[in-house]
Amino acid sequence: MAKMAASMLQQGEDAFRKLFKFYRRKNPPPDFSDVIDFSKPGNHSRKVFNCDLNAALLSDGDACRAGLHPVCKWKAFGLDGYPGFIFISNPFLPGSQRHWVKQCLKVYPQKPNICNLDMHMSPTDTDNLWEKSRDQIRQKCAAKREPKSLLEKLRWVTNGYHYNWDTKMYSADHYTPFPSDLNALSEGVAAACGFQNFKAEAGILNYYHFDSSLGIHVDESELDHSRPLLSFSFGQSAVFLLGGLRREDPATPMFMHSGDIMVMSGSSRLLYHAVPRIVSSPDKQAVPQCLVQELADDTPEDSVVQNVSEEDWAVCAKYIQTSRINMTVRQVLGLGKAFPTEPDNENTVDIQPGAYHEGSSDSEESKVKRKKQ
Ligand code: SIN
Repeated sequence: MAKMAASMLQQGEDAFRKLFKFYRRKNPPPDFSDVIDFSKPGNHSRKVFNCDLNAALLSDGDACRAGLHPVCKWKAFGLDGYPGFIFISNPFLPGSQRHWVKQCLKVYPQKPNICNLDMHMSPTDTDNLWEKSRDQIRQKCAAKREPKSLLEKLRWVTNGYHYNWDTKMYSADHYTPFPSDLNALSEGVAAACGFQNFKAEAGILNYYHFDSSLGIHVDESELDHSRPLLSFSFGQSAVFLLGGLRREDPATPMFMHSGDIMVMSGSSRLLYHAVPRIVSSPDKQAVPQCLVQELADDTPEDSVVQNVSEEDWAVCAKYIQTSRINMTVRQVLGLGKAFPTEPDNENTVDIQPGAYHEGSSDSEESKVKRKKQ
């Protein structure tokens, strides 16, 4: 890796961009042997170390209600050179991931939440995406090229404080209630990582297919960077690149598999990152094994994670055979703080052009970032 990075710099193109292109390449496919795989203990680079989370910070009961194993069973890792970065290798209870996939496809895209399709379609056309798409998805034949349903054209959904892709800001008057189940999951994970009182205020859900990617960006629009950014992955796997504080700094590649959670906090909160490639899940089954399992019968009644009906799962399973869903959750405001009434230098963040998706929704720029979606 060090050799590869050095040769990149010699050629004049920055290390991160070159690595992004390397993993995005289709023909010939790249060598993935440098990609850290936290799910395989023997496949860790020397940079990886075990991270001891304090199991007392999230009770076993609260973990179970959020669909998670007790914290003492979680496999959490840190990375040398990235203080504040925590990778938790699938801490979800068997069957509970299905709930999040179904919510991301059936519930969270519903109005009044906002999605990329709203940028060029009317609210009535983008409402009830699930009902409008489910039969088409269920009947899809893998061998044929068929038109995409609206749900398959979904790229992002925002909830809570809705991120404005044009101004790259959040605002007080662009808010809808944050989903209570995702709030419980996020608060629990944040607490286990030492962030008590984390407030889940904004969610950006990203939907990827095998030809999707997400460009190099930093998430800096939130007003309190002392609060962590949480990232949850479901479905097919991704190659994730974690870079430095400058866009051109070299990056470390790692796989994110279904159920994996990433926490970016402390000095790692504002690191550049990107997703150059979606790859099949490591078990090479159409649907990753952790999503094949159903929720256990003894799931507590007050669990936020609900059983997914067979009918709904048939649609989700078809979708997830070729897709990955990522939920990122952020606290936007400092504790007890409100949005500034007048933008001023102290309270507004310095937004860099090109952060996150460039342009809004399906603009030409974002098409470049997420080619052939
Ligand atoms: C991911 O899909 O894993 C990353 C999403 C993001 O950076 O916002």
